[in-house]
Amino acid sequence: MNNKVNFVHLHGQKSSLVLDCRQSLPSFLYWGKRLHKEVDLESLAVLSFRQEAPSSSAKEVALSLTPTIGQGFSGHPGLTLSGSKDEWGALPLLTKIDNPNSQQATLTSTDSHRHVQLIHEITLDNETDVLSIQTKVKNKGDASLNVDWCAAATLQLPTYCDRLIAFEGAWAKEFQIQHHQLQSGIYVRENRKGRTSHDNFPGFVAHDKTTNEYQGEAYGFHLGWSGNNKILVNQLGDGRRYAQLGELLLPGEVTLNPHEEYQSPTLYASFSTEGLSALSHQFHRYVRSQIISDAVKAKPRPVHYNTWEGLYFDHDVATLKGLAEKAQSLGVERFVLDDGWFVGRNDDKAGLGDWFVDQAVYPEGLSPVIDKVNELGMEFGLWFEPEMINPDSDLYRKHPEWALSIPHNEQLPFRHQLVLDLTQTAVQDYLFSCIDDLLSQYNISYIKWDMNRDLNHPGDIMAKPAVHRQTLAVYALIKRLKDKHPQVEIESCASGGARADYGILQQTDRIWTSDSNDALERLSIQKGFSFFLPPELMGSHVGPRDCHITHRHLSMSTRAAVTLFGHMGMEMDLRELTDSEQDELKAMVSLYKKHRSLIHNGFLQRLETPEHMLGLGVISEDKSQALYAYHMMQVHNASLPGRFKLYGLDSQQLYKLNIIWPVDSEERWKGMAVFNFSNILNDLDGKVFSGQALCDFGIEMPLLTPQSALILQLTAV
Ligand code: GLA
Repeated sequence: MNNKVNFVHLHGQKSSLVLDCRQSLPSFLYWGKRLHKEVDLESLAVLSFRQEAPSSSAKEVALSLTPTIGQGFSGHPGLTLSGSKDEWGALPLLTKIDNPNSQQATLTSTDSHRHVQLIHEITLDNETDVLSIQTKVKNKGDASLNVDWCAAATLQLPTYCDRLIAFEGAWAKEFQIQHHQLQSGIYVRENRKGRTSHDNFPGFVAHDKTTNEYQGEAYGFHLGWSGNNKILVNQLGDGRRYAQLGELLLPGEVTLNPHEEYQSPTLYASFSTEGLSALSHQFHRYVRSQIISDAVKAKPRPVHYNTWEGLYFDHDVATLKGLAEKAQSLGVERFVLDDGWFVGRNDDKAGLGDWFVDQAVYPEGLSPVIDKVNELGMEFGLWFEPEMINPDSDLYRKHPEWALSIPHNEQLPFRHQLVLDLTQTAVQDYLFSCIDDLLSQYNISYIKWDMNRDLNHPGDIMAKPAVHRQTLAVYALIKRLKDKHPQVEIESCASGGARADYGILQQTDRIWTSDSNDALERLSIQKGFSFFLPPELMGSHVGPRDCHITHRHLSMSTRAAVTLFGHMGMEMDLRELTDSEQDELKAMVSLYKKHRSLIHNGFLQRLETPEHMLGLGVISEDKSQALYAYHMMQVHNASLPGRFKLYGLDSQQLYKLNIIWPVDSEERWKGMAVFNFSNILNDLDGKVFSGQALCDFGIEMPLLTPQSALILQLTAV
């Protein structure tokens, strides 16, 4: 090694990561609570000494950032290579350490026999305690090298962290929290769908048995990548447990020619001793400071109207103008024209690929609608699904070779569409020029960028698997458009929340959380979403009275309440609104506008609540302002529901409590009371209580009907 560094100690405000570099591998020594600056790292190394285990190698194989087969490691390796010789046995050893400050390190390891170099780039963000780690493999030889797997990193977990929270689900049911008990052996999730997916969010939290939303140790991991992935936690027979996350590569997908390199996606990880919400807050602050663009951050998130569940494909200019007027009267600030505006798009069977305004529906182009929207003082947004092509499209008739496929294999039908091969430059250029033309011609300030099928046949024109290159090509296409049109904001949608990750968020500004606008379903979807993603990125719309996906009938009061702690919008046929629904919706729009700065900058506190309800809070950094939502989901099994305890207020501080939802009116409690309770809540409204009374003692709640919600505002006095 050309420079001698025994230990790399990175730290933020609250956590430290220490790598032991005394041997020839960057081995894991510590990741947890921040160590004092003057800590004697040698002494930690002494304390970490492990004896020879029975029936094991005399020297324990160190758990490094990238454990390898060549090292003799018999757990799930961090790197698997293959080639014409013995590349599978590669053992890169530390050759260089750059550790310019206590937040950054770059570690280079080289296998001079197999001509392979491994580079780990690690940053521990000082402000938020979020680690970001990437690993690169370089082919330094003169023959080709296959990368079969290269995890972004392998990080050891304390063995007492034996519980895992994963995020599972399905279409219209994303981000479902699942608790798993870890055992000896491997817990693994693979996503092979070619997009982030509805069912396998690439992240998890490992924690110990005492951890909850308010307290305890928790380690969060998220892979910022929108393609295939594999995430795992492995407990070795010798008791050590580690997490490993990386891109799942298809056979032969990445072959490095001499001097080429592969770069893993970035792993984002963080540690907290203060429970799950505090851990999420670290990720939220990281996204706010490192991922969301300054321009988007500076602007209040506008209230959306989206046409999808209102009109579907049934577009016409007069109706759209009418809806725009109605939307504006409700306080909408951005009008988004969803699917159905381009040539041949009368349903979901045709048209994808032909990104030209349908003259049959819009004889004068989109100008009449956009001008109307702009005259009403709203921004205009447009839906695209650039990566897709319908076989029934002019583009496909002209270029069938532009679709990804596996030669000789029949394509599985999937929403009548195929996936364009974005690894072809001509395809990229075509899409860029179609979208660029529209952005140049019209005043479009927002794109809803959709992606509605999995990559089941991801072969390029050379019949090579292409998910890796396709994912990078999508990022590059969006970046190219953004570079030319920096004022345009982009929403990442994939049949709802199937592309929600920090990779796509480097290029986009909002996530369409789920196709389910059912407020009750949304509660658990949004709760899962909140673990790694902050509320301002979470598209949340007031949907139709009878939900289109579940057919559940929900009051406006409930539908509106569920959108407040996100990026609010509405998506329905506004012509269906009754006068009172309209008033309620308007009231929620005003509340959102009034409180969005708090919601989009504050601390999101998930509350520990019994099964039948869900509670959330947002508290300002200085604890002078807070909002709490109380959602009653099911019938409670005792005759009265018990106390609602807030969390996160300053216990010494006095707060004025106001019930801000439902809004104060004669009809206020209509439909919410099993027995008349109005006095109880009316008596609380406007009174002053200490933070301690509200949090440690709690509020004895009246019996609300299921599917109803209250929102409380607390203001320091
Ligand atoms: C996907 C999206 C929806 C809508 C439709 C349009 O399903 O998630 O919000 O845009 O496509 O086809």
